[in-house]
Amino acid sequence: MILGNLEIKEKAALAPLAGVADRAFRELCKGYGAAYTVCEMASAKGISLGDKKSAELLSITETERPAGSQIFGNSPETMATAAKKALEFNPDFIDINMGCPAPKVASSGGGALLMKNPLLAADIVKAVVEASTVPVTVKMRSGWDDNNINAVELAKRCEDAGAAAITVHGRTKVQMYAPPVNTDIIKQVKAAVKIPVIGNGDVIDGPSAAKLMEETGCDMVMIGRGALGRPWVFSQINAYLEHEVLLPEPTVTEKMFVMLNHIEKLCEYKGERVGIREARKHAAWYTKGLHGAANYRARIGLINSVEELRQIALELIEQNS
Ligand SMILES: Cc1cc2nc3c(=O)[nH]c(=O)nc-3n(C[C@H](O)[C@H](O)[C@H](O)COP(=O)(O)O)c2cc1C
Repeated sequence: MILGNLEIKEKAALAPLAGVADRAFRELCKGYGAAYTVCEMASAKGISLGDKKSAELLSITETERPAGSQIFGNSPETMATAAKKALEFNPDFIDINMGCPAPKVASSGGGALLMKNPLLAADIVKAVVEASTVPVTVKMRSGWDDNNINAVELAKRCEDAGAAAITVHGRTKVQMYAPPVNTDIIKQVKAAVKIPVIGNGDVIDGPSAAKLMEETGCDMVMIGRGALGRPWVFSQINAYLEHEVLLPEPTVTEKMFVMLNHIEKLCEYKGERVGIREARKHAAWYTKGLHGAANYRARIGLINSVEELRQIALELIEQNS
């Protein structure tokens, strides 16, 4: 896929995942072959006010490239200011969030709420494109609710306003994450615009990635929940799309090794106190489905050091061998 001057070779990108896809996770997924990564969403208002937390969310390192920053907001001026600040962190592209259903985002008029106001949405894209020296992409849902499926109209307006690519999560804001993905809307968007379209929703492995691409004609797929505790999913998808090879799941030992490496990086980047608190959810995902894992759930929820997690990992390897 071509994005401005950027040539993206692989077909499966890591979705922006607030509270999950931080630097440690993005680097890990990139190492497994993610086509590109996207930072956790950052508030345009917070960025333009110089908020430290928002700046942290925009930081990008060389090992996670190609990588984009994602911003949300509902004012063209503030979004343009935020885009300029985001450029200080050298993103390869800037993504505009038009799909987030979270009350704190939508209630401020940004995220999925922009789907209700395509004219404002297009003004925002135009303002960000004018402010940006890198390509600007948009991530949207199929619409607000079943009576307002307007991704095609919105995608066309975004393209006219200068967007370089569109990601479509095939569900409405009201649907959140529940029903099956509406692949037809992704197909319709792909047919309606000339810029690349990235299909998103429920891709968890090679066959589901291939299916979404075949059904919709989308240029790439984006993976969110399918990568939680499974960063190797990108190598599985790449092997399937390139060679129709179904790579096996890693062994329990391999999984635990990846988990510990991930959590060590997380603690290195954020400090052990914050890192280990955030590690608990990752550890629950990595150990899901392992024999005896249910008995460890409570212990994982209480870990206070990498050493405690290492002990649990060793016990799980023992139980599963
Ligand atoms: C924990 C979590 C955090 C998310 N954070 C963001 C975000 O910051 N920005 C965004 O555009 N979408 C966000 N999403 C939506 C995902 O990027 C993706 O569109 C959605 O999960 C559907 O893809 P999937 O079926 O592969 O998970 C988030 C989803 C989850 C589960």
